[in-house]
Order: sequence, then structure tokens, then C-alpha cells
Amino acid sequence: MNVEKGYVEAPVESSLDLKEEIKKLKKEKNAVILAHYYQKGEIQDIADYIGDSLALAQIASTLENPIIVLCGVHFMGETAKILCPDKKVLVPDMSAGCSLADSCDADEFESFLKDYPNHVVISYVNTSARVKALTDIVVTSSNAKKIVESLPEDTKIVFGPDRNLGNYINSITGRNMVLWNGACHVHEQFSVEKIVELKKQYPQAKVLAHPECKKTVLILADVVGSTAALLKYAIESDEKQFIVATESGILHEMQKKCPDKEFIAAPAIDSTCGCNDCNFMKLNTLEKLYNALKYEQPEISVDAEIAAKAVLPIRRMLEMSK
Ligand code: 13P
Ligand code: SF4
Repeated sequence: MNVEKGYVEAPVESSLDLKEEIKKLKKEKNAVILAHYYQKGEIQDIADYIGDSLALAQIASTLENPIIVLCGVHFMGETAKILCPDKKVLVPDMSAGCSLADSCDADEFESFLKDYPNHVVISYVNTSARVKALTDIVVTSSNAKKIVESLPEDTKIVFGPDRNLGNYINSITGRNMVLWNGACHVHEQFSVEKIVELKKQYPQAKVLAHPECKKTVLILADVVGSTAALLKYAIESDEKQFIVATESGILHEMQKKCPDKEFIAAPAIDSTCGCNDCNFMKLNTLEKLYNALKYEQPEISVDAEIAAKAVLPIRRMLEMSK
């Protein structure tokens, strides 16, 4: 058995019913599967819990199971491990990174912060444990507005790493946070022109957009929110058609929860590239999930000193989100 590529490379019998085998292993080992809305549909369907990044952190912090399989990207597994240091946290493919987290190198962020003494440091959850260890409060797209607004109006704030989310929060709160210049390669790719064309084609459709999208896309949106917020809107709305500007995995749960509604994935600038799919999120497969449970690898580990610092802003976020 080999995990060099970031996942367990072990042969899997083609005759196996992977879904059944995963259920059996889960029961045998008292493991729990958490999946983000951007995972492949078949992984979301087999998970015990699905959610946005805030929900996954909240759920992880309350679990009793000794093994957590986090079907998402590396920073999500890291967040779960930091919150549950005594548990085994597995990510089916450890090479599932995040371009946004990678756009914020911890050493560079540390020297950037030296220019902003007396600032509260707010970091998006899409960051490495080392960046979180330099942070005062972690936020997600679900709670960023609420947390920023809870600070006194004259608070000086540095916000990283997503410039689009930071700009959006500045615009709706009237704050003037200093922004780190990072972005997500998926959310930056949505095409304004193609969304405008779609709006002509589907004049009744509501445009739903994640705040990691560029301002030019957010201006076209009827609703801006985290994956969980967009899903909630789609479920509760009387409208029947939605143009969705976030990673395409969310359409699976939207369609499942609203079978009589139509969800149209907003196209990327190059519509042949499949750029509204996060290639990192889609690295996890049923086969890798099965092997992860079977061999209890690959396992997330976080340096104890870093984890001791990083847990504080994450717990602060969980407390402030109640
Ligand atoms: P949510 O916080 O809406 O889950 O989205 C974050 C994201 O981009 C996950 O990669
Ligand atoms: Fe990171 Fe973007 Fe993928 Fe989310 S969609 S995991 S922000 S690269």
C-alpha cells in the first residue's frame, strides 16, 4: 500500500459494491463521513453530513466518532483536526488543495502583517493552519458579515486572503478593511457576458452568486451568499429557475432538494474548460474514500505548536457564529 500520490493506491475489486462496502467499514470503525457541497454527487449521497465550510467545522467540533473522513479539501481536514486533535482525520486525497489558500503564503502574510500593527487579523477559513495561527478571528462566507459587524466601527482590520469576499464585505458593511490580494481560480472565472446572455434566455431566473466571485459578477446577482445560503434561498424561494455562479457541485443538492426547479450552472469565461468545477474538490472519489476508510490513511497531521495557536481563532469564530 502506497500513499505517495496523496491517496491510498491499493487495488479495489471491480465487483465490489463500493457504497455498501463504505457503509460497512464506517459502521465497523465507528467512522463518520463529512462532505462539502462541492464534492461529487455520489460522495455527497453517501456522507453522514453535507454542508458548507462553516457547517463542516461546526459539526466536526461536536462529533464523538474516533475517525472523521473529511471529503473536501486539505484546509477543511486541517480545520477538523485542529478542532479534534485526538481524532483520526482522513482526507481521501490529500493532494486536494485550494488555490485560494495557496494564494496566501504564511511567511509572506506574516511580513505583510508587520505593516499593519494594531489591526485585528481576520482570515477566511480557506487558509493553511500556519496562516490561521497568525489570525485573530477566522470567518467563512456564511458568517463574515456578522463577525465583521460585531467589531466596533473604528476597528482596524486586515482581511485575507480573498480579495473578492473582502471587497464585498467592505461594500455591505461600510468598513475599509485592508485586503490581502488572493482569489479562487474557480470563482474568478465566471463570465459576465455569458451570465448576461443567460439572463436574456431565462428572464425569470434569479442569479445566485458566491461572494468569492468578482465584483462584476456580484453586481448581476440577485442573491450573494455562501453555498449553504444559496441552497437555502433556492429551497425557500417561489422562483423556478436559477443561474448559479459557484462551483457546480452545489447543483447536486439543489436539484435533489428542489426537483421541480431548474438550476443552470453559470459558465466560465472559457466554457470548454469545465472551470466551474474545482479540480481539487473533484480529486476525491468513492474508490479513494473506500481505501481511506479501509487503511485509515492518508491522515491529516498538524504541528502541535501551530495547532495550539490556530485553534483559538477557529473557536472564536464558532463562538461568534452562535
Ligand atoms: P462555503 O464557505 O460557502 O462552503 O464555500 C467555500 C469554498 O469555496 C469552499 O471551497
Ligand atoms: Fe479553494 Fe476555490 Fe476550490 Fe473552494 S472552489 S476549494 S476556494 S479552489
